[in-house]
Amino acid sequence: MGAGIMGADHARILHRDVPNADVVMVADVDRDRAEAVVADIPGAVVSGDARALIASPDVDAVLVASSDATHVEYVLACLDLRKPVLCEKPLAPTAAECARIVDAEQAVIAGGLPLVSVGFMRRFDPGYVELRGLVDEGAVGVPLAVHSVGRGVGAPPGSDELTVTGSAIHDFDIVPWLISSPVVEASWLAPRRSPEVTDRQDPQFILLRTADGVLVTVDVFLHARYGYDIRCEVVGSQASASLTEPHRLVRDHGLTRSHGYAADWRPRFAEAYRLQNRAWVESLTAGTPSPLATARDGLQAALVADAVLASMHGGGGFVPVGTTP
Ligand SMILES: NC(=O)c1ccc[n+]([C@@H]2O[C@H](COP(=O)([O-])OP(=O)(O)OC[C@H]3O[C@@H](n4cnc5c(N)ncnc54)[C@H](O)[C@@H]3O)[C@@H](O)[C@H]2O)c1
Repeated sequence: MGAGIMGADHARILHRDVPNADVVMVADVDRDRAEAVVADIPGAVVSGDARALIASPDVDAVLVASSDATHVEYVLACLDLRKPVLCEKPLAPTAAECARIVDAEQAVIAGGLPLVSVGFMRRFDPGYVELRGLVDEGAVGVPLAVHSVGRGVGAPPGSDELTVTGSAIHDFDIVPWLISSPVVEASWLAPRRSPEVTDRQDPQFILLRTADGVLVTVDVFLHARYGYDIRCEVVGSQASASLTEPHRLVRDHGLTRSHGYAADWRPRFAEAYRLQNRAWVESLTAGTPSPLATARDGLQAALVADAVLASMHGGGGFVPVGTTP
């Protein structure tokens, strides 16, 4: 569902890289986009109607990669028909909508296997997985702080809020997952704004505090120009550990050593998307619980986003993360 940048990528991954997955149907309000995706997938057809795709007896499971605001409608439609659904992040733009999904899922499954998975793919990135393993085994000692940086070359027109609900939302999921401690309060800050960006405050800085007292800095700069750059450092009482930018080569030239950056998230997280989608389909075929983020995880990240937005609109102080929207 949704044949834009991510939908096209997911369809290609499911078709080429995921055993036991057949992409049978693609829908988008822009039919040309759906046509372009099925052109590379023998046997797949375009559905002009999103509801018809979800209801089709040929469709066992749905991957929702349409625009954020459409997620809640499509995920609820999947739940109505008891179809497993992998929904791209954010599960929904607000915690209230995420809570509707959590409640609907509970009512439908009645103690059975969850049907909703959320595409917080960083949980499958080999670097983040290794970092979490180090923290778990105590290799950094007691975690004290986390520094998380997310920079992009540029972004389509958006808003201050969209940076939080669309981009920093990844940090609201991955950091508590890394250090096994939920975020309990959040604060939003902004430096002088880039003169090249007119539609939103860019960059933005977010401070999070976890239940264990770990302080987290999140630096999101969507128009950083130089490349897509994701960094994460866990600072512990005995050591610190950081992700390295995965690259295949460095270039030595003119008294300089350099390496390239990806232009966007797809090459940087290609392995994470592949491993995530494989794990999802494997769990569906095996009838085991999905190892992806759950609807409740989607809600938890949205509750942090709500607190960050309250701080943004309320002067920048720390705001407690609610337990209900
Ligand atoms: N996990 C990640 O790393 C990651 C990265 C980028 C985007 N995303 C998420 O993936 C989703 C898609 O993002 P994108 O970058 O591909 O955006 P995009 O704008 O390229 O694609 C969105 C597509 O949804 C279609 N669409 C809009 N309304 C629809 C509707 N009602 N029914 C069916 N299709 C509809 C649009 O026509 C468009 O083709 C978003 O939720 C976004 O937040 C996730």
